[in-house]
Parts: sequence; C-alpha cells; structure tokens
Amino acid sequence: QDKRESLFALSQWAGKYFKDQLWNSDTGKAIGLAYFKERGYREDIIKKFDLGYSPDQWTAMTDTAIKEGFNSEYLKEIGLSIERDDKSFYDRFRARVIFPIHNLTGRIIGFGGRTLKTEKSVPKYVNSPESEIYHKSDVLYGLNFAKKPILDNDSCYLVEGYADVISMHQAGVENVVSSSGTSLTTGQIKLISRYTKNIVILYDGDAAGIKASLRGTDMLLEEGLNVKVLLFPDGNDPDSYVQKYGSDAFKNYIAEHQEDFVFYKTNILLKDAKNDPIKRAEVIREVVQSIALIPDEIKVSVYIRQCSGLLDIEERVLLSELNKIRIGKS
Ligand code: UTP
Ligand code: MN
Ligand code: MN
Ligand code: MN
Ligand code: MN
Repeated sequence: QDKRESLFALSQWAGKYFKDQLWNSDTGKAIGLAYFKERGYREDIIKKFDLGYSPDQWTAMTDTAIKEGFNSEYLKEIGLSIERDDKSFYDRFRARVIFPIHNLTGRIIGFGGRTLKTEKSVPKYVNSPESEIYHKSDVLYGLNFAKKPILDNDSCYLVEGYADVISMHQAGVENVVSSSGTSLTTGQIKLISRYTKNIVILYDGDAAGIKASLRGTDMLLEEGLNVKVLLFPDGNDPDSYVQKYGSDAFKNYIAEHQEDFVFYKTNILLKDAKNDPIKRAEVIREVVQSIALIPDEIKVSVYIRQCSGLLDIEERVLLSELNKIRIGKS
C-alpha cells in the first residue's frame, strides 16, 4: 500500500544520505571512511554493502529529510528520528558508521550504526527498531547477497555480526548471513532452509558465542537442518580472523575446524565434566536431548551410533535414554 511504499522510499533515501556523508563530506571521509579502511575493508566492498556515516550532529539527517519533503511521522515510525517531549525530532544515528540492512530484494529496511568511540558506556551498536517494513525476526543480514552463493554451495555460514558477513565476502566466502544481535529465530531458520539444509555456525570464540551456538544448534536441528559448528580461537570472530590472518588462512581454518554438532557439543560438555561420572551422565543426557530434536529417524540412528562411539556408551543405553526423552515430551 501507499504507506509501506513511502516507508521504503524514506529508507532508500536515508541509505543514500548516509552513503553520501561517507564518501563526500569532509568529516565522513576523515572519520567514517578512514575507520572502514583502518578495519581493512576494500572500497568495492564498502560500496557493495552500501556502508555509510552519520554525522556528529543532533538533527542533521532529520532536518535534511524534512527539507526534502519527507514526513516526520514516517521518520519516527522507521526510527530514523526520535521525538522529544516538546515534539521536536533528533537523529537516532549520530557519529556512527552505518550498516544498512537489506531485504531479500535488496531494498534497505533498517540500519545498524556502530560507534567509533571505545568507552564502555556508549552502546557499540544502535539499531533501527521494528517497523512496518522491518520485522527483525524474519530478516537475516546479508541474505540478499548470499541467496545465490548459498544455492551454489548448498550450504550457509551463520555468523554473529555485520562485520563478519562483510569480511567473509571480502575473503571470497559469500554464502554467509547473520542474525545480527537478535538471537536466532524460527522465522530466520525457515528463511535459510528455502535455500539449503546445511548450516555451519561460525560464532565468536567467547562465552556468549558458545552459549548461542548450543541454543542455535538445537533450534536448527528441530527444523530438520544439518548442523556443523566452529568457534574461533582466542576470542576472535570471523571478521577479526580474516583481517588478522588473511583470506587463505581463514578458508583453511574453516575447512579444517568445522565439526558435526554431535562432536562439537559432546566435546564442549565433556571438557567441563572431566572424569566425574555424574557429570558425564549429564553430558550424555544433554547430547541425546539434542539428537531427540531431529525429525528424521535415519539421521537419529546415525547420530546415536556416532555418539555411542564418542562417549563409549552402548547404543541401547542411548536409545533407552532417547525414548525416555521422547515420552517425556509427548
Ligand atoms: P559483537 O559484539 O560480536 O560485535 O556483536 P561485532 O559484530 O564483532 O562488531 P565489531 O567487530 O566490534 O564492530 C555481534 C552483533 O550483535 C549486534 C550487532 O549486530 C553485532 O554485529 N550487537 C552487538 C548489537 O546489536 N548491539 C550491540 O551493542 C552489540
Ligand atoms: Mn513479523
Ligand atoms: Mn561477541
Ligand atoms: Mn563479534
Ligand atoms: Mn567483530
């Protein structure tokens, strides 16, 4: 309808505005563009992802939009402008580098803005809110660029952040999407599974990354996808790994370290359990719980067999545990 179209038009305009600031304004070039180059992003990649810059001013974008005839209610609705008590408006994105978020057809529907400051008191990213054109639970960052590469490779890498998607493209690995801060949703999984059933989770090598990988694994298994997992060493993420060690080292690393979820989960949990028999029993139960989520019976039996070898437990013990879990659920 008309309103949706107006919101889309406003988003495209804002994308152009931030881009123009990045490439053509003195501060945009000196601060924003310099920041991206410092991070190792090539110009063609900065352009491909429509990256931008929002000036360090309270109302620069809002004022320009109003002057160009855009409606302040719509600016508020898609969260580009925020209304004060006195009904005046100010810019949500100030003094940040801008990552536009595209829908499947490549239209801009929202933005992430990264601060250039290092103080812990400033939130690292500010994001567009939910709106009529931006339903976060149904959007994956980068999918517009990744659709074809995912089909070609019959596999999709799932990463945590904007920067990870961008650096992987620069490294030549284009079948990659990010849920960008929101924890993975069923809607996002259904979206990926239109293109492939094979997912490789490449999350940050920190406590939050491990936790998110285990939760994500279970959700993906439940939707019938095949899941491999890889964590980066020493707190790295895909972006920092590419930039530190280069594209070839990155590609080798991911080729050599991705593990099927059953090995991944078992090894992670066993590390904590050591040789404590009660904790080991708990690990077995947790791994079987994940296997129990898989809808395909043949895959279930393959995984039970693998797990039996891995944990040195008889298959029939695992199967009886599996049945207990299933009965508990039904
Ligand atoms: P990270 O903290 O791992 O950030 O959050 P990053 O992507 O590695 O960012 P850089 O490399 O420091 O620039 C992963 C993702 O979570 C969301 C963003 O989408 C980010 O890319 N996030 C993170 C937020 O939305 N808000 C935050 O304050 C932090
Ligand atoms: Mn929705
Ligand atoms: Mn992180
Ligand atoms: Mn990260
Ligand atoms: Mn990062």
